[in-house]
Amino acid sequence: MSGQTLSTRAPSMGAHYAVQLPAPDDFAFWRDRARALVQCEVLPDSVSWIEPGGTGDLFAQDGASGLIECLPVPERDARPARASKRFLSLARNVALHSDPERFALLYRLLWRLQSNPRMMEDKTDLDVRRVEELDKSVRRDSHKMHAFVRFRQVEDGAGPEGKDEHYVAWFEPDHHIVRANAGFFMRRFANMNWSILTPRGCLHWDGETMRESGPAQRSDAPDGDPVEELWKSYYASIFNPARLKVGAMLSEMPKKYWKNMPEAALIHDLIAGAQAREANMVAAGTRKARERPDSLAELAQAARNCRDCPIADCGTRAVMGEGAQHAPLMIVGEQPGDQEDLAGRPFVGPAGQFLDAALAQSGIDRSAAYVTNAVKHFKFVQRGKRRIHQTPTAKEIDTCRWWLENERAIVKPRIILALGASAARGLLGKTVSLKAARGAPIMLEDKAELWVTAHPAYLLRLDGEARAEQAALFAADLAKVQARLNALS
Ligand code: URA
Repeated sequence: MSGQTLSTRAPSMGAHYAVQLPAPDDFAFWRDRARALVQCEVLPDSVSWIEPGGTGDLFAQDGASGLIECLPVPERDARPARASKRFLSLARNVALHSDPERFALLYRLLWRLQSNPRMMEDKTDLDVRRVEELDKSVRRDSHKMHAFVRFRQVEDGAGPEGKDEHYVAWFEPDHHIVRANAGFFMRRFANMNWSILTPRGCLHWDGETMRESGPAQRSDAPDGDPVEELWKSYYASIFNPARLKVGAMLSEMPKKYWKNMPEAALIHDLIAGAQAREANMVAAGTRKARERPDSLAELAQAARNCRDCPIADCGTRAVMGEGAQHAPLMIVGEQPGDQEDLAGRPFVGPAGQFLDAALAQSGIDRSAAYVTNAVKHFKFVQRGKRRIHQTPTAKEIDTCRWWLENERAIVKPRIILALGASAARGLLGKTVSLKAARGAPIMLEDKAELWVTAHPAYLLRLDGEARAEQAALFAADLAKVQARLNALS
């Protein structure tokens, strides 16, 4: 940061203040200075907001430390500046826009909010409309970054601290969004060494720490590598010709990003061959339907090779259900956890132990039930040595549904107990609210009764009264299932 000071001067009439921002995306710095200026009643026209490298710093200059702000300091008892939550959340995002006028616009809005606290609700106000436009454009840019950053592997040993396997991506954002999105990429690619190079600054992650560096050029990033071939074949396999809408695809994936995306090279051929592929998919679907395995053992064998979604590459193995082949009760969880993935069996970790105790208390014999999950692979992110559970997306649950349906077709349970919303989605093919679905059975098309309750892992995350309350509801749900099992036997 440049050396900046606040003077203890009171605001002087007719003065013009210059605020030098240390970085173009420094919302916190802008917020602190803007609050103080509002408290000192400095008019919006009397402030210039200057970005690094920007011009307009005509008011004060100190050769050694950079610009010195001669900003007034509010009196101790000055009324605090008021800002609605809506304004602050927009301002945080708008500060990342590349429009040089953004900070002035935000200050003008903050100033006006002091006399009109509901101003953000006025959709006809030009400042409000402009700030909403800028916000939208920043969000869109972040979305594009999440979707279109493509890593390429660079030479072994070139990674931070000489680590092998270093992945580098090139991206050209429209706005100053790189730092704000560091957390997203850190969580998503937690156990990789990667760098994202951009003309607005770069991020480097080595699995433990994030480092920033200055702007890069396109020529600093590699062009292609073996991962690219994998990525292309993955894209070609998930590309769904039946859903092809060329217009929508072009607006979602503007051509500007294509040059960084290996799969873009396939787009022309994929579109051209879309009809033929759709026909093939229909045929493959029919084939798949006819090839339903007859036994749980065959099903488990086939699941080992499943690569229908990206989670299949996580974890150690597909964890299929276990229990009696024709159990009257099927219990369905979300997905195997860390311990289930290692053991290759469902519900053996902490959630499983909680479930076992609750089943025993309600008189349900787990060994007479078939226990399985909606998703067969463990989805997680690596944090250091720990594998942290990630909730599967609706699409992943739907993709895995084929396995659950086959388990149901073989076991033919009379009663199914879904533990949590993911399990309910896996059984119903649509999202239901737990609150609405629990307490009474839902009849499935094969006449099985579906009972929905909370997931034991959810109960384990609660404490004290909340846990006791939820545990009582859980026990009540199990008691109803037990009563139905008794009635049907
Ligand atoms: N949570 C689940 O949903 N399933 C398991 O098998 C273990 C934990």
